[in-house]
Amino acid sequence: MHSSLLISGFSALFFSGSAYASVAYCSNQDYETGALGESPYQTYNAAPYLPVQLNYALPPDDCPSNSQVDGYFFFAPEGPVAMPGGGLIMNPNGTMIYSAAAFEPSFLRGLQSYKGSDHVAIWIGDGSPVTGGHGSGYNILLDNTYTVVANFTVANLGVGADIHELQITSNNTAVMTAYPTQATNLSAYGGPADGYVLNCAAQEVDIATGKPLFTWQPLDHVDPSECYAAIGEAGSGTSDDPWDYFHINSIQKLDDGNFFISSRHCHTLYLVNPAGNILWKMGGMQSDFTFGQGANFSWQHHARMRDSNTITVFNNGASEYNQEFPYSQGLYLTFDESAKTVSLINARSPFNRTVTTAQGSVQLLDNGDSFVGWGAMPYFSQHDSSGNILWSAQFAPSENEVSSYRVFLHDWVARPKTSPSMSIASSSNSTNAVVYAWWNGATEVTAWKLMGSTLLTPLAPDTLSVVQKSDFETTLTYTGKRQYTFFQVAAMNAKGQTLDYSSFSALNGTTFAKADNQTITAAPLNS
Ligand SMILES: *[C@@H]1O[C@H](CO)[C@@H](O)[C@H](O)[C@H]1NC(C)=O
Ligand SMILES: *[C@@H]1O[C@H](CO)[C@@H](O)[C@H](O)[C@H]1NC(C)=O
Ligand SMILES: *[C@@H]1O[C@H](CO)[C@@H](O)[C@H](O)[C@H]1NC(C)=O
Ligand SMILES: *[C@@H]1O[C@H](CO)[C@@H](O)[C@H](O)[C@H]1NC(C)=O
Ligand SMILES: *[C@@H]1O[C@H](CO)[C@@H](O)[C@H](O)[C@H]1NC(C)=O
Ligand SMILES: *[C@@H]1O[C@H](CO)[C@@H](O)[C@H](O)[C@H]1NC(C)=O
Ligand SMILES: *[C@@H]1O[C@H](CO)[C@@H](O)[C@H](O)[C@H]1NC(C)=O
Ligand SMILES: *[C@@H]1O[C@H](CO)[C@@H](O)[C@H](O)[C@H]1NC(C)=O
Ligand SMILES: *[C@@H]1O[C@H](CO)[C@@H](O)[C@H](O)[C@H]1NC(C)=O
Repeated sequence: MHSSLLISGFSALFFSGSAYASVAYCSNQDYETGALGESPYQTYNAAPYLPVQLNYALPPDDCPSNSQVDGYFFFAPEGPVAMPGGGLIMNPNGTMIYSAAAFEPSFLRGLQSYKGSDHVAIWIGDGSPVTGGHGSGYNILLDNTYTVVANFTVANLGVGADIHELQITSNNTAVMTAYPTQATNLSAYGGPADGYVLNCAAQEVDIATGKPLFTWQPLDHVDPSECYAAIGEAGSGTSDDPWDYFHINSIQKLDDGNFFISSRHCHTLYLVNPAGNILWKMGGMQSDFTFGQGANFSWQHHARMRDSNTITVFNNGASEYNQEFPYSQGLYLTFDESAKTVSLINARSPFNRTVTTAQGSVQLLDNGDSFVGWGAMPYFSQHDSSGNILWSAQFAPSENEVSSYRVFLHDWVARPKTSPSMSIASSSNSTNAVVYAWWNGATEVTAWKLMGSTLLTPLAPDTLSVVQKSDFETTLTYTGKRQYTFFQVAAMNAKGQTLDYSSFSALNGTTFAKADNQTITAAPLNS
């Protein structure tokens, strides 16, 4: 019932009733041509989620396992034809680990370290956050039990935080973007004298108190004549359609207290001190730096200073209305702050040499490889330490229909606070039962145990079967002589220990809690 609610409003073409394969496809022609729909997705028998179906467009040798990948994919498929469901955590073989559907409309940002441990960061808000509008909302952090431990946004800007940036600093503060509108005279730029701009903000907030610690807005520091998105291309400058002359899209607070800020529309990375003054500009019309061959960028995203002389940045090289580079690249750059030079270390190219007009991300992995999210091109890929592509997966067939603002690869161990879920197929009876088990977000489950009990011994169940887990949802069956009134499932780890039990469920749907003496034998997560 839940899943039919989720798909209402979507074409029947998408939901023929037959589930797509759970694991990723490998060079599937029908997927690539769009014959499987604009957003192929997976279905389950009972679990109420519709995650995207992956296709490895450039498959690894062991497709679909892709066992060279160390970690899980964190991304948030979004766009005009994206299936509902918010963000996803996925195994490299394309099976789902976690759906953020409970928080929809939301946007899963990946992991961030907060108070010394990794947390899932999710943006929740209104508005079309990536294309068109800029969204206004807030961010939450979930610990490894998926408990919300922090909920925060920007202050004193008239709007909430938007999706473009969230960085949790080493001091447990949050750096965020927001897109407030401001009245300003635009006649010098070919716009109305009673004009409006998006005076997009960088703000650092104390997570515990919500107090703003630093606020920076470009209109005080960067003249709109220094930027490349003309009035008419990025808003007409009216109150309904303010001019997005700057378009902030990444901020990184550095350990020395300075802020590293990316303006997509000015093609510039700024180093800003805690007083708000610009210390230097890298790129754009007034660059303080000169660029070596292959090191320059335009309409860029996700700029990160890796150390005092290296940077990663996603060079879109094009917008919806301009193109300067033949295709987008994930750049790894080195710079010399005194000589004011930037040179290319190496570049990551997309497998089919396409341009990504919006969004994108570059992540350096611990082993020297890197991981690139191709933004409006619904792809991500892993690259070796020289930038050579190793494999590329897609989560939709065509550009701009489904995208993920950023994509990350992270290790993650999580055990949800909420109990495992189960559902008894309606065809079941007391001697012939089919039970579906899942546990949204659990990473340690390797097998499921099915148990049954009778009216006489409701809290003392018999073990009926054990089934290895291979997909998000696992089917368990019972066929026998003994008649069972209640069924229950238990999630098991690789050591054969119990991680948790579901409630007991009767054939008619009545449920009651697990027995007090059903103890969890797996060691607690943080021990
Ligand atoms: C976060 O805080 C906002 C504002 O107080 C509240 O409306 C919202 O329900 C909270 N969200 C979560 C997931 O806790
Ligand atoms: C707007 O700015 C222009 C010059 O850029 C100036 O001539 C004009 O008087 C200003 N209009 C208003 C209403 O301030
Ligand atoms: C953390 O706080 C210290 C002490 O106030 C400060 O020197 C440092 O710059 C801060 N770092 C970040 C990333 O905010
Ligand atoms: C990037 O640099 C090359 C020279 O290395 C130059 O030809 C090109 O115009 C530059 N592109 C942009 C967008 O600055
Ligand atoms: C690259 O992939 C995208 C997304 O599937 C597609 O739109 C585009 O046509 C492909 N381009 C080439 C040159 O194969
Ligand atoms: C249970 O269902 C099975 C198969 O659906 C059927 O063969 C069996 O007779 C049923 N048993 C009861 C007790 O209804
Ligand atoms: C657990 O408790 C129930 C009664 O609440 C009892 O029937 C059952 O034997 C107990 N199981 C174990 C393993 O002690
Ligand atoms: C997919 O990968 C997960 C994690 O490695 C594994 O547990 C599962 O069995 C795989 N599923 C299939 C169908 O290969
Ligand atoms: C559902 O089945 C259980 C076990 O037979 C029974 O105790 C309960 O009263 C039933 N509930 C309904 C609403 O029929």
